[in-house]
Amino acid sequence: MAVDRLPPNLRLALPDAAQSYEQDAEWCVVDDGSGWRELRFHDYHEIYTVPGLYEKLFYEVLQCQSPPVVTDLLVEQMATERLDPAGVRVLDVGAGNGIVAEELRTRGVTKVVGVDIIPEAAMAAERDRPGVYDDYRVVDLTTLDVDAAAEIAGGGFDALTVVAALGFGDIPPEAFRVAFDMVRVDGFVAFTIRDNFLSETDTSGFAGLIRSMMESGELEELGAVTYQHRLATTRQPVHYRAIVARKRRPRD
Ligand SMILES: C[S@@+](CC[C@H](N)C(=O)[O-])C[C@H]1O[C@@H](n2cnc3c(N)ncnc32)[C@H](O)[C@@H]1O
Repeated sequence: MAVDRLPPNLRLALPDAAQSYEQDAEWCVVDDGSGWRELRFHDYHEIYTVPGLYEKLFYEVLQCQSPPVVTDLLVEQMATERLDPAGVRVLDVGAGNGIVAEELRTRGVTKVVGVDIIPEAAMAAERDRPGVYDDYRVVDLTTLDVDAAAEIAGGGFDALTVVAALGFGDIPPEAFRVAFDMVRVDGFVAFTIRDNFLSETDTSGFAGLIRSMMESGELEELGAVTYQHRLATTRQPVHYRAIVARKRRPRD
């Protein structure tokens, strides 16, 4: 991964492990030679601007596993259905700087379109993994009109990936729904979500949305695994669920 692109003088520190934060309030401090500054983990626009920092923080220090876990699960399901990954066109939402697209291409997928809400993500993907996306759109899915969505979907994607990007002020249920509508019937939907977002007590809206899609027959779960997404700044594991499903019919 791109950690070797880190500025050589960059220093990174995490808060005291005894101090616990909500996932959307976690932070670190970085010094790239001009003094220490505090970055919230959700300040993606600032994190992506420092080459290699995203990988160093989330993948090396906090041991994020989500992209390989979910792309393995997706490609395994494609193999079960005798589908050649080289022939599928994937929409990767919350694409960031392209780690998921890289993992998909390693597993034989050749066509990936990225969507993210901030331009810094598109710039970082081009800088860190040039060519890994066939196309990359900076859009807010919740404000996308029907024509613009149809133009991006181009007849419907064969698969959707949303990795480490649902909830916590990132992708809301309405945006997931818009992305889901861009997938063709019988296409695959692969995503990761914090395990408690699927519980009875969930207030994010995802549990209700996923449950209603499954109950109405719109979505059929093919496989799922609970796994360690990454470490929190307390160094305790954060558990997510990776789900691969198939879209069985369009929205009513
Ligand atoms: C933790 S990063 C995950 C990036 C990548 N999927 C990965 O696994 O490395 C979450 C990404 O979701 C993006 N994001 C947040 N809200 C979004 C939204 N409403 N629509 C699209 N992308 C969004 C952020 O800009 C960020 O790039």
